[in-house]
Parts: sequence; structure tokens; C-alpha cells
Amino acid sequence: MMPIFIDKKSKSFRMDTPGSSYCMQVSQYGDLLHTHYGGRISDMDLSELWNQKREFSPNPAECGDRLYSLDVSLQEVPGNMTGDYRTPSVIIKDSTGAAAVRFQYESFRVYEGKSELAGLPSSFCGKKQADTLEITLTDTYSKVKAVLIYTVFRDMDMITRSVRLINEGEKAVYIKKAASSCVEFADSRYELVSLPGCWAMERTPQRKELFQGRQVYESRRGASSHQMNPFLALVRPETNEVHGQAYGFSFVYSGNFMGEAEVSQYGTSRILLGIHPQDFTWKLETEEAFQTPEVVMTYTDQGLGAMSRNFHDFYRNHLCNPRWMDTRRPILINNWEATYFDFNSARLLEIGKEAVELGIEMLVIDDGWFGKREDDTSSLGDWVVNRRKLPEGLKPLVGKLREMGLKSGIWMEPEMVSKDSQLYRKHPEWCLHIEGRPCSTGRSQYVLDLARADVCEYLFEAVDQVLSESGFAYLKWDMNRHLTEVGSVLLGTDRQGEIFHRYVLGLYQILGRIVRAHPDVLIEGCSGGGGRFDPGMLYYCPQIWTSDDTDAGERMMIQYGTSMVYPPSAMGSHVSACPNHQTGRTVSLHTRGMTAMTGGFGYEMDLGKLSLEEKEEVKRQIEAYKQYAELIMHGDYFRLVNPDEGRDICAWEFVSKDKKKVLVHYVQMRGRANGPLHILQLQGLLAAERYQEKKAGLIYHGDTLMNAGLRMPLLMGDFQGYQFYLEARDSNVG
Ligand code: DGJ
Repeated sequence: MMPIFIDKKSKSFRMDTPGSSYCMQVSQYGDLLHTHYGGRISDMDLSELWNQKREFSPNPAECGDRLYSLDVSLQEVPGNMTGDYRTPSVIIKDSTGAAAVRFQYESFRVYEGKSELAGLPSSFCGKKQADTLEITLTDTYSKVKAVLIYTVFRDMDMITRSVRLINEGEKAVYIKKAASSCVEFADSRYELVSLPGCWAMERTPQRKELFQGRQVYESRRGASSHQMNPFLALVRPETNEVHGQAYGFSFVYSGNFMGEAEVSQYGTSRILLGIHPQDFTWKLETEEAFQTPEVVMTYTDQGLGAMSRNFHDFYRNHLCNPRWMDTRRPILINNWEATYFDFNSARLLEIGKEAVELGIEMLVIDDGWFGKREDDTSSLGDWVVNRRKLPEGLKPLVGKLREMGLKSGIWMEPEMVSKDSQLYRKHPEWCLHIEGRPCSTGRSQYVLDLARADVCEYLFEAVDQVLSESGFAYLKWDMNRHLTEVGSVLLGTDRQGEIFHRYVLGLYQILGRIVRAHPDVLIEGCSGGGGRFDPGMLYYCPQIWTSDDTDAGERMMIQYGTSMVYPPSAMGSHVSACPNHQTGRTVSLHTRGMTAMTGGFGYEMDLGKLSLEEKEEVKRQIEAYKQYAELIMHGDYFRLVNPDEGRDICAWEFVSKDKKKVLVHYVQMRGRANGPLHILQLQGLLAAERYQEKKAGLIYHGDTLMNAGLRMPLLMGDFQGYQFYLEARDSNVG
């Protein structure tokens, strides 16, 4: 049955997922009010909930009484300067220069399935998997329409929302702000979970109480950023991993964003997410439309773990390219931390020979193979082979690796140009810049102006040529600096505020073309590690390099935070050398393997330096990954112990969808001579099923494993890992 209900009499809308309801109602004055998002409800007319009389709150001109004010109403698309003083979701400057806007209800339409969003990555589904409700509202004076687009999924607790603004006036208007989602809550007894970080320490969860006033979570760097992820969770103070209400909001966008949480004078809360309004102005000519990216929302009363699993299932099945969801990704060796810029074909072939003997399936040639790149100061933009390092060129090298039994992958950083490059000398005007102002450098490089069609065309051709000529099976798409002096010479002065967004649209356009032209090339997203780890990139790149910090101890934390929203299948993760290049820490090879096995698995070290014993361990890891890949990539993911909890341990678990296969990764982060007892309670099992753990020869029922738990061994040393696998007794797989 279609889960969208409409009551024409009370002008109410309700969208039901299996475990949630999202409700709206048109007020007697035409404003679209938000009436409920949370657990399932059965009624439609909720007008009793929102009629309030308040002092010092303006009343719209036509309503003539003091019973009604936008300032106290919970709304779906709050406007600006028309009586609501909280943060608006849309600001439009009309042809008179005024920035007042109030959207009022006009019509709705409902259809099966979901439409694509022009020029933007967005979730997809079959016709019978979801239904869409579009509500059209108008601002009478500027003649701008807002179409609110909601898609509600039939079998998942997921709702997406975006907004399309259409100028039906006779003159151009300027969009100053266009949030993709706005959800209001009747109280503020909530906490916000966000994912801040920095380079090499991305997505470390932070939890803060709401307070009267506004909290802002943002990136203004031109990329979604290491510093803050485009995600917010709203939870009750008592919510934990396994219990309690949790709302998740995830933004399918890779550029500047802003998440806002505002608690009003009356204790209600407003949560907004969308393109960042600072440095953003979009000129909308008559009859033109502007489509915002979408926000994916979920609600559960089963804690943060269930919220994350909702996102994982959704992104695996409704956002990532299906081409990569059902195939095991190749286990790779990347030469970056083994050689940095100092390699040649002989060295790569040596690495390949060692790799293939250990069972590795692909060699990725990282930064330094092109132009005259000997360090990070030159050649970005010159995507022709460096003949000093690879005299025979890429194709013969790829051929030799193929003969050895290895696929090949290649690194590129297409969005950038080095000052010292042929491309920059030929087209200095192709980088983002403001006339008369010097350009800041970042890692000695400039950012190409992806708001320009000619630059996008050049980039597509450059990447296409590298991939087509040499037969690469994998592309690592890097981006190693953020945007500055964001000006574009081809756009008029009235359109300079569009560049940040046009840059992202240009990027999406190129990536879309590459994916269509090379459907069998696996693209791994990267931005100085995990600086653009977001659902927008995930649409094109089914895996993203999680962080430049490859230290297993740190990675446990980074992967813990990343898993709040993103499935393990999205996380590129490698075993690297010790002492680790970023932290100097030494972690056992076994633990490094277990940690890297939480996503797209690979190695990034000089394999020739491993002892025979270590090589045997690597072979065991590769076998284990092959055995468990299906479980890791498609199973349910449970965060059992938070590495940041102060217990000196960390644990995570993968459970197959039929709940019969279970893989547990346990790490003792600190060795103690006479340490505490650690009992690990598993999650997500069948209570009545008997599970066997072969290593320790144990057989226990699921309820025992979940409620009583399993005693973990005391291990010698810091960061010692213990990986174990359980299987339901009647299961004949594994
Ligand atoms: C940053 C990436 O995250 C690294 O893995 C590596 O590819 C370097 N860039 C190369 O410059």
C-alpha cells in the first residue's frame, strides 16, 4: 500500500515508513506546518498541537488576530522577514532588492518511485520501492514557487527531501539560502551528534546538548571537508548505541554545507541542512528552476546503532553504483607509503611480484607517475607519463602486471593544477581566481575552475584517455587542497556567488561521464584521505579512502566515527608499515590486518621488507578477507565497544543478513599486567539459535552471547587483536 496519506478536509499529509511517521498540515492561513516526525501515528488532523497564542510575535497581515504567528509555528519551509525570527530555510532577494519570503500552500502531487535530481547525485529506487509526494507552495509577491519533494521508502525507515525553486516572476531573483530539509521538534531535550575532525583524524563523534540559540555545523572550504561531515544526528540524552530515539540527517552533497540547530524562545527545535548560504547567491532568471541536493532522513527508537544500519542499508542499496555492490573488490597494494615519489617501473614490478605471491590482486600506482613529478610541487594537470620513471609508458607496464596476474589502478588529482606545469603555462586563466588578487597556494597547487565548461571538458578527456589507453581497472581520484579566491572569469559579477556550487556541479558532471564511459573501472574517492567522504561522492565512488592516517590504532577511531553514516563497504582501508608513518606507533600485523579488513581491503607498504613469518600472516589475512568479504561488505555492522570510551578496548561485529554468520573484531588497546575482566556482549543474533565458535570450541545460544557475553582473552601488549567467527550450528557455509 502506498504509504502517503492525504486528508483533504484537514489539509494534512502523512508519510509512513515501517517505524516512523512524518506529518504536515496546511494552516488556515496557507502555511505548511510541520506536525510530527517520529514514531508511527494513526491520525491526520493534528491542528490541536500547534495553535498557540503568544505575545511579542507578529501576526501575518491577513489573519487579523493574535492567535496565529509564524514566529511560534513549526514549519516545513520557513521564510524570511515575514514574522518568524528563527533561522529561515529559504531567503530570496526579489527584483526590488527585498529579501522577504513566505511560502503558502498551492497544490500537491503523488507518484510511485522517485525522480532523479537534475545534475545532482541522489538516491534511487524501483517504482514499487518508494513513493514521492511533491508539495508546491508559492511566495505571492516574488512569484517564486517552492516544490518540496519527499520520497518515502516502503520497507525502510528512510525519507528523502529536497526543494526545487522556480521563478515564475517576470524578473530575475537571487536565491541567498535554500536549505534542503527543515524539521521542527516540539521540545529541545535533545543532543546533537556531529562528526568533526581534521586532516588525518576525520569524523570523531561529538555530542552536544541543544541550548536556546543556534548551533552551526559547516564546511566553507569548497569540499564537504575533514573538519565536519555533512551529517547530524538528533538524540535524546538517554539514547545510546542500542536504545533510544535517534534521528539521522545526511546530506548528499560534496561542497559547502551548513547544518543548523536552533532552539526557540519556547523551547522548540529546528534542524536545517543544506548548501551553505555564505558565499552563495544564485541568480534565477524567469522560468528557471534551482534544484537543491537531497537530505536523507531516518528515525529509530533503537539507538545510534540502528540509525547507522539504516543508513548503511540505504546507501548500499539506493545510492552506491549497483555494479560494485555485489562484486568483491580486488585486494590491492598501493605504492604510496612504500615509495612515495621515488619509484620506477622496475620498482613497481618488484612490488607487484611480491604482492602476487601473497595473493594480492591489484597494484595501484599512486602519485608521481606523470609529467616531471618528483615531489608535490609540479606537474598536476600534465597527465602524460613520466618517461624518466616509466620509460616504456603505462600500457606496457599494465600489460606486464597483467601477465603476472595483477590488475592495475592509477592515481589522479584531476581538479588541480601545479604552477609548474604545462597546463598552467598554457591556461593560467583556468584556475579559480579573482582578477587582480594573487592566488593562495595549497600543497603548491591551484584549483581548476570547474564552473567552466571548457575545463570540465578537458578534465573528462584527460581522465578518459588515461583510463582508455592503458586498461586500468581502478582510479583513485584525489583532491589535496581546499578552494580559495573563488572567482571565475567567465561568469558575470552577478554570478560570482554561484561558483562554489557550480564547482561541485562540474565535478559531478565529470564523474558521471567517467562512470558511464568506464563502467568497469572502480573509482575510489580521496581528498587528502577522508576530506570528501560524503554521500555525493559515494554515488560515483563506491569506496573512499578513509584517512591519510593509516595507523591502526587511530583508524579504529576514524572508522568508528565514519560508520555512524557510511557502511564498511565505503571505507578504503590498508595495512601499512610500522612504525607507522603518521604516528610512529607500532601495532601488531595481525591487528593492522583486522582493522583494515573493515572495508575495501589492501596493503600500502614495502612487502619486500616483511619477514617470512610476516608474509605468512599476510597470506592468512588475505585468505580471511576472501572468506569474510561478503559478510563485511553486505552484513549488518555493530559497534560493540567505542575505542574512545576509556575502557582500553574496542570491538566491532559483522552479522550476515540471515543472522547465521558472525565475525567479531576485538582489540585490546592497552596491555595490563593484571587487567580487568572483559566480557563482550554480542548483538544482532537470533536468540534461540546455537552458535559455534571453533577457535575456542564454544557453543552458545544467541541469547547467551548477547546477554551474558563472551570472555575475551588477556593478550600480551598494546593494540593486540583477536578476531573470531561464529556460525549457527545448522549452517553449512563458511
Ligand atoms: C593524499 C592521499 O590521501 C594519499 O593516499 C596519497 O595518494 C597522496 N595524496 C598522494 O599525493
